[in-house]
Amino acid sequence: MRTVLLRSLRSAAARSAPSNSHLLRRGFSSESVPERKVAVLGAAGGIGQPLALLMKINPLVSKLSLYDIAGTPGVAADVSHINTRSEVAGYAGEDQLGQALEGADLVIIPAGVPRKPGMTRDDLFNINAGIVKSLCTAIAKYCPNAIVNMISNPVNSTVPIAAEVFKKAGTYDERKLFGVTTLDVVRAKTFYAGKANVPVAGVDVPVVGGHAGITILPLFSQASPQANLPEDVIKALTKRTQDGGTEVVEAKAGKGSATLSMAYAGAVFADACLEGLNGVPNIVQCSFVQSSVTELPFFASKVILGKNGVEKILDLGPLSDYEQEGLEKLKPELKASIEKGIKFANEN
Ligand code: NAI
Repeated sequence: MRTVLLRSLRSAAARSAPSNSHLLRRGFSSESVPERKVAVLGAAGGIGQPLALLMKINPLVSKLSLYDIAGTPGVAADVSHINTRSEVAGYAGEDQLGQALEGADLVIIPAGVPRKPGMTRDDLFNINAGIVKSLCTAIAKYCPNAIVNMISNPVNSTVPIAAEVFKKAGTYDERKLFGVTTLDVVRAKTFYAGKANVPVAGVDVPVVGGHAGITILPLFSQASPQANLPEDVIKALTKRTQDGGTEVVEAKAGKGSATLSMAYAGAVFADACLEGLNGVPNIVQCSFVQSSVTELPFFASKVILGKNGVEKILDLGPLSDYEQEGLEKLKPELKASIEKGIKFANEN
């Protein structure tokens, strides 16, 4: 498990330590940490604000660009007072979007509307599809080489929309477009550790497929450490992982969806992308990417991250009968969501 965020927090909090100690602790000299501009689009929102905070304490970021349709100057002023490496700038409104994006190495997109109780991720489609399409059009124009981390739901459709926009603009590089599914992995690890009664810090669980309901397929048969949990417990863990978002939406009772855990997951994934960009070897994360692991054009599985984004997509590995069944069941729904995204991008 990545301990980067905790290390960053400890480093930021270590008042007596020299100012570049967090860089040294990561095995870099302060001179060798490359300059990296990270843009967060939707930075004044429920996910955007804590994500801005977590990216501000990430020592791999040198410039943090916070964009939203409104409210970002305040968020930027607030996080800019934190005594960590990055310079922070807030941009509000469409006429500042170009400036927000120019020179970005990594763009994280949590812009959009969240679910309310009773809504599915698909219900968000029409609003968020339009938002993602216009933001990706701007990315193609202002930072065509940036890595894109898509958080806006439904990820199963917004990633194909982004791909279509980039293809039309002639800037598509399939290695650089990621649907962020890290929260599924975070949840699977937490729930598994609870049932297996093992320390969560040492737990790993791959989660494959997509990022909504039954398309989320945690592979507990490949979990480490292996706890040999009974089948009924595995089934309950699978269902809880698939319904994790709904659990939060219902508990918040109309006041939003998962924002804090999502910001954490988004920060973990963004950090992994930055490490990959910086040439750190063997950075592996699950993500929803263009893929030939199955017959579907996009699929979440383990990927190795490198200097150009996806370096290698790893096979699913051996599945239990229950997981194999789950894989076959998820394919029609995932296929339909991917096609819906492609259709939207081409018709609007
Ligand atoms: P929120 O409503 O609190 O924040 C969204 C922000 O996006 C707002 O500040 C809004 O002004 C901004 N926004 C809207 N249109 C924009 C545009 N054209 N350009 C820039 N910013 C724009 O919502 P929250 O809770 O932060 O969720 C954001 C998105 O993340 C939703 O689509 C939600 O479904 C998704 N989400 C994804 C998860 C994942 O695991 N990938 C988990 C939880 C939520």
